[in-house]
Amino acid sequence: MEINKQLKSHGSWIGKWTFVLAASGSAVGLGNIWGFPYKAGTNGGSAFVLIYLACILMIGLPIMISEIVIGRRAGNSPVNAMRRIAIDSNTTSLWRFVGWSGILAGVLILSFYSVIAGICLNYIFISATSLGLMSSPDQFAKVISSPFNLLFWHTIFMIFTALIVSAGIKDGIGRMVKILMPMLGLLMIFMVMYAMINGDFDKAIKFLFAPDFSNVTSDTLLQAMGQAFFSLGLGMGSIMAYGAYMAKDQDIVSNSVSVASLDTMVAILAGIAIFPIIFAFNLEPNSGPGLVFVSMLSAFNQMQFGQFIGPLFFVLLSIAALSSSISLLEPGVAYLSEEGILSRRKSAGMISLIAWILGIGSALSFNAWSDFKFISDRNFLDSIEFITNQLLLPLGGMFIAIFVGWFMKKSLIKDEIGEINPILFGLWLFFIKYIAPTGVALVIFFQFFPI
Ligand code: TRP
Repeated sequence: MEINKQLKSHGSWIGKWTFVLAASGSAVGLGNIWGFPYKAGTNGGSAFVLIYLACILMIGLPIMISEIVIGRRAGNSPVNAMRRIAIDSNTTSLWRFVGWSGILAGVLILSFYSVIAGICLNYIFISATSLGLMSSPDQFAKVISSPFNLLFWHTIFMIFTALIVSAGIKDGIGRMVKILMPMLGLLMIFMVMYAMINGDFDKAIKFLFAPDFSNVTSDTLLQAMGQAFFSLGLGMGSIMAYGAYMAKDQDIVSNSVSVASLDTMVAILAGIAIFPIIFAFNLEPNSGPGLVFVSMLSAFNQMQFGQFIGPLFFVLLSIAALSSSISLLEPGVAYLSEEGILSRRKSAGMISLIAWILGIGSALSFNAWSDFKFISDRNFLDSIEFITNQLLLPLGGMFIAIFVGWFMKKSLIKDEIGEINPILFGLWLFFIKYIAPTGVALVIFFQFFPI
């Protein structure tokens, strides 16, 4: 008995590290540092930020807990996890289609994610060699104008992703992330301090936090909610797949709170590092996907040792992207290999090849295809992003919430959640049953029938 306990507590310590690391690795990525600031910028700043925070707390966190509950209970890839828990709860195994939609969303997201991450890789070299040769907006324009250039780096990033996933994600990336994520955190704090001293800090803080709901539209709501799902990595089974590898004696709720807080903190820090520089250089906060590249390069241009700190920043950003992209690939790969359809290596190769091909469209939407509109006035990349962030992820999250709130056996849920304050449990259940599904449904409804 005594020995058992010791073994358990030892195991739990190792387990705790690995899960939180892998899950924060999945959560913290381009969504925080590239996506959040530019979306806040194009959506008028503070209103977007506040709605985003509300979505994280009221919809994101409860759904994250639910995904992990399902994943750990089943111990399978998301498709089979949904099916298995559905059968155990005496309801239809059609719920497995939530897993399928997750695999689809993962491939779609990975396709454009890899193009943007490729630009990060490219910037490692740009910030090391060509600082000051060109203004940073011109530099970005040059980078995205060449399809060959974008495709080259897109290919490199996709190969990295596929290699790590095929090797099994547990060892390699887990160890890498343990050192590199804290480094990224420190460097972010350094960039925040630099921006405080050298940038227009007051204006940036007002822009990000002064409550101004005057130009909130239904689209702001949808974008903020989509961003919350994207940033936490919810709605497609990433964290469900990771939950399957989580030790049984881990506390799901406190782990989720850690991951969600860390993720939110990095996004806010990125905003506070970027906007003071944007305002100080009279750049436009609403300039779109180039925001982080333009602002950071301007800072490194001015900074002493910029040609060393710049590459370091983009290396760490690329690694943050890599620890996220692998979680996009994992649900599909886990399914194919679990079913014995293909080996892990072949599944990783095949799925990443599909994502790579789709990614060509996203790379071209910066140049050759920039005038082609697909879904209303969106180019190819924006259309894929719209389908995933604003439809598949929120809908996936909504079905997961409905499943756990209304269909999954309460005894199974209680078993996974473990000892918890009954009021907290009741609160979570209330959010999962009512708030999260209606929240998502309303926001999507208003997207199609704007007020
Ligand atoms: N959360 C990651 C980011 O912010 C991207 C990501 C990883 C993701 N897994 C996901 C997004 C699952 C949506 C769904 O960059």
